[in-house]
Amino acid sequence: MTAQEFVAQLDGENQRRLGLLAPADTLKPEVEGDLNVLNLLKVALRNEIEATEIAARWLVTTDDVDVKLALARQVGDEAKHYRMIAERLRALGFAATSFDPLAKGYGPLFQYLDTLKTTVERVAAGQFTREAIAVVKNRQFIEFCDHAGDRETAAMYRDVIEPDERYHHELGRTLLLRLATTAEAQAAATRAARRTLELADELQKKALATAGIHHAPGC
Ligand SMILES: [Fe+2]
Ligand SMILES: [Fe+2]
Repeated sequence: MTAQEFVAQLDGENQRRLGLLAPADTLKPEVEGDLNVLNLLKVALRNEIEATEIAARWLVTTDDVDVKLALARQVGDEAKHYRMIAERLRALGFAATSFDPLAKGYGPLFQYLDTLKTTVERVAAGQFTREAIAVVKNRQFIEFCDHAGDRETAAMYRDVIEPDERYHHELGRTLLLRLATTAEAQAAATRAARRTLELADELQKKALATAGIHHAPGC
């Protein structure tokens, strides 16, 4: 299979599985209990710091200049998202400066991504797949914010964060087209993408079961 055929196939498979991750009924936002924009933005801080750090770790462990630059761009974007969200939290009355989003340690998705050693697996999992998940989750979160009447948070995601996450996904596509050229590389990329989707699904189910959290934004 050519890299083009492979990337189209992986994209199709990801979109199918993302359809299962985001069934249509969860797109009807509903606020119950402590599920509000403020608490969901705290979840977002953790996602953003983890996305910043995994891209930074990979940046220093590749010799490929194109990959370094793609990851550098992502590090800067995710750190910018963190700062914007922290500022939005402050406007909503929460002191994000005294909040450590990693107080309970790194999450299972970060820990899995940190085990990936080859660039093709990292790009398939961390950019092409994780960022495709982010785009879907952020669309749901924007809808949630709109329904909750928080137009400012909705605009921040619609105008800045979501387009950035989409760009990271496209960077993943560009790099995969260059790197997923052998059957071996394609198999490794497929495994990494599937595991990323499984972990995202597990995390979503766990957040729903333990904290009643749904509509958390992605990264
Ligand atoms: Fe991102
Ligand atoms: Fe982000």
